[in-house]
Amino acid sequence: MNKKVYIETYGCQMNVADSETVAGIMHSRDYSAETDINSADVIIINTCSVRDNAEKKIWNRLDYIKSLKRKNKNLKVGIIGCMAQRIAEKLLEHPVVDFVAGPDAYRNLPDLVSETDIGFKLSNTDFDISETYSGIEQLKTGTDEISGFVAITRGCNNFCSYCIVPYTRGRERSSSYKDIIAEVKSLANKGFKEVTLLGQNVNSYLFEDDENKVDFPLLIKMVAHTVPEMRVRFTTSHPKDISDALIDAIAENKNICNHIHLPVQSGSNKVLELMNRKYTREWYLERIKTIKEKIPDCGLSSDIFCGFSGETEEDFQETLDLMNIVGYDLAFMFKYSVRPGTAASKNLEDDVPEEAKKERLSRMIKVQNKISLAKNRADIGKTYEVLVEGHSKRSEEMLFGRTEQSKVVVFPAENAKRGDFVMVKITEASSATLKGIIV
Ligand code: 5AD
Ligand code: SF4
Repeated sequence: MNKKVYIETYGCQMNVADSETVAGIMHSRDYSAETDINSADVIIINTCSVRDNAEKKIWNRLDYIKSLKRKNKNLKVGIIGCMAQRIAEKLLEHPVVDFVAGPDAYRNLPDLVSETDIGFKLSNTDFDISETYSGIEQLKTGTDEISGFVAITRGCNNFCSYCIVPYTRGRERSSSYKDIIAEVKSLANKGFKEVTLLGQNVNSYLFEDDENKVDFPLLIKMVAHTVPEMRVRFTTSHPKDISDALIDAIAENKNICNHIHLPVQSGSNKVLELMNRKYTREWYLERIKTIKEKIPDCGLSSDIFCGFSGETEEDFQETLDLMNIVGYDLAFMFKYSVRPGTAASKNLEDDVPEEAKKERLSRMIKVQNKISLAKNRADIGKTYEVLVEGHSKRSEEMLFGRTEQSKVVVFPAENAKRGDFVMVKITEASSATLKGIIV
């Protein structure tokens, strides 16, 4: 019998890609993808552990799912992803959870699910350093997808002191460049217009076989040449590893988008050292300067968080100062939450009071909004190529899409539709969006 699996995804883009891999694995074993949680035979929740809030959301969701299980006694519920890896035992104690699988254990998920038929709860959180999900066809659920993700590395070896990822996703490994090229070609054949190469730290991509030794700058050039009609993006870059060769590759290849997401985390050298980030404020600012020289219209975005152990008001001011110097188009901003098991949780005191964290975060957001507004206003009068993603939430007559810098633009539809590339002249700007007209 064909069973229906509903997959819900939390956290980063890597999780979005993983959910498609899991959907592909389940599909190959006779499960069909279900988009309505109420009609599913199996519910899989792909979770994030990066901050405490991300995990709280999942516990709340499980409480809701309890009511579905009351209605359907045969419903199976599983937790996968980083939280599954981190606290498998605790999750299994929750009355609705039947199975748990960590990020390296997805290949055997259909078996794990059927083994729960006899009534036992089961988990698989084994790490497998060779697992890159090579040979698995992802299942995309949207009808006319335009933007796809391809994971090129999995895991992380950096051990930033605050971060749980090296513990939940294990050691870093790179997929074969041949598999990556094949996946990108398959997206192009399906009509996709954009591909994002994913990894916790894409700059450390390295794959060697008998014929070639391929690093990230070479890989991204190979991808760009393979699909010249597609936009190519990548995320995330670690500042310590962003090389001139990569910056040159972006500058020289038209279809590699002029956008770099380069998380700085903090602007204070003292805090960066406590975070084990392995670069200084000066190093970071020099990289930004080189990027701006070689790619003058490069979009820049960042992840930044406040309230890390030992962060004083002066350290925090250095972060705000760095944000102003760089002039990010967009920043994802957070307050620090201790992750059990990390080096920071063991060796550093969480000494910034919660109230101060909140207050710093709101100041940080204010500063970034001002920068984003100024950056967006500077775009007024310029014309950008925009990949149309769909109708604007507010009006059917308006479309929205992204520039290669990854800025969102809203404009009257004219005859354009989702998936088209159009030239849009910017006429208005707020801190969050640009407005324009097709020219
Ligand atoms: N607390 C707050 N933010 C964190 N991040 C990672 N770990 C933590 C933590 N313990 C942020 C970083 C990272 C992004 C994905 O989440 O900014 O780049
Ligand atoms: Fe992604 Fe990191 Fe969250 Fe895991 S912990 S889902 S890798 S953001």
